[in-house]
Amino acid sequence: MQQPEPQSFDRVLSSMCTEPHPAAREAAERYLATNPGDPATYESIAALEARAVELLATVTDHPTPTDATGYVTSGGTEANVQAVRSARNRHDAGDVNVVVPESGHFSFHKAAELLDVELRTVPVDDEYRTRTDAVEAAVDETTALVVGVAGSTEYGRVDPIPALTRIAHDAGARMHVDAAWGGFVLPFTDADWSFADAPVDTLTIDPHKFGQAPVPAGGLLARDAAALDALAVDTPYLETRSQATLTGTRSGAGVAGAVAAMEALWREGYREAADRAAANAEWLAAALDERGYDVVDPELPLVAAAVPEPEFDALREAGWKVSRTASGELRVVCMPHVTREGLRRLVADLDQIRR
Ligand SMILES: Cc1ncc(COP(=O)(O)O)c(C=O)c1O
Repeated sequence: MQQPEPQSFDRVLSSMCTEPHPAAREAAERYLATNPGDPATYESIAALEARAVELLATVTDHPTPTDATGYVTSGGTEANVQAVRSARNRHDAGDVNVVVPESGHFSFHKAAELLDVELRTVPVDDEYRTRTDAVEAAVDETTALVVGVAGSTEYGRVDPIPALTRIAHDAGARMHVDAAWGGFVLPFTDADWSFADAPVDTLTIDPHKFGQAPVPAGGLLARDAAALDALAVDTPYLETRSQATLTGTRSGAGVAGAVAAMEALWREGYREAADRAAANAEWLAAALDERGYDVVDPELPLVAAAVPEPEFDALREAGWKVSRTASGELRVVCMPHVTREGLRRLVADLDQIRR
C-alpha cells in the first residue's frame, strides 16, 4: 500500500501534541535504534536520559535538578499510572485509594483499574478547579495519593497545588501534580504548581506536548529517589539490576528528541511559544465572545466555548480538527503550530456557517 501523507497541522486545533522542533526531529531519527530500557548496552542514550531528567527538573524548579529522579515515559498516561503505583507501593495500608478531581485525565481511571486502587473522584468549583473542601472530606488514612492538575485537559485550569499538598501530607498521603500539558507553559505564569511552590512528591510533564519533542516522550519526575525505588523490579537477564519503568524496551528516539527540544528551547524559546499561544487564545476567546458565544476564560492557552452542535459539526466537515469538552463546548488548544492566521480562517469559516 502506498503510504498516505501524515496529516498537516494546518487545521489541527484539538491535539495536545505539536510539530517537533527540527533539532528534536533530527535527534529522534539518529537514536531510533536505541533502547534506554537496557542502559548498560545502550550507554549513550542512557546518558541522554539522565540529561532529560535534569532538564525536566530544571523546568519544574526541582530544588536540586542534578539529584532529581525520574524517566522519559511513553506519555502522560504512563507517568500518571506510575505515580499511582509508586504511592500505592509506598503506603502502609492494604486497600488504598487515590483522590482525583473530576477534571483529572482519564489515565487515572486506567491506573485505578490496573492497580486495583479505589478512585475517589472529587468535584471542581465554578472555575473548574478542584474543591479543597471536597478533597479534605475525601482523604483518610487509606489515601495513598492526592492528584492535582496543573493545566487541565478540558479547560486548562491549575488546581490549588500548595493547599492540596498540605491536605495530602496531613492525611499521610503523597501528592502528585499532573502538568503533562501545562508543564512547559506554567514557568511563564504566576501559577503555583512546581516542586518549588509546594513539597509535591511526583509530577508528570510531557515533552511531547508543549515541549515540542516527537512522540513518544512523556515525563515522570520525583522529588526524591524513594518514589522511583518503589517502582523497581529485579531484571535478571540485563546487565543492570533493576528497572523502574513500566515498559521494558523503550524508544530512544523520544528521549533524544526530548533532550534536543529542551536544549534548543529552554528557556527563551518556550517563553516565546507560551506568549504567542496565550495571545492567540485571548484573541480567539474575544472573537468568539464578540459573536455571542459563552466562552470559558482561557487561563492557559486553551479556549472552550459553547458553540452549538450543528455549527461544531459543520466545522468538522470543513476539515477543522476540533473537539468537544464533556459538556459539549468547542475546545481549541493553542499549541505552538496554531497560528493567528489559522485562527482567523477558523473564525471566517464559522461566520460563513452562521450565515
Ligand atoms: C493533563 C493530562 N494528563 C495526562 C494526559 C495523557 O497523556 P498521554 O496522552 O501522553 O498519555 C493528558 C493528555 O492529553 C493530559 O492532558
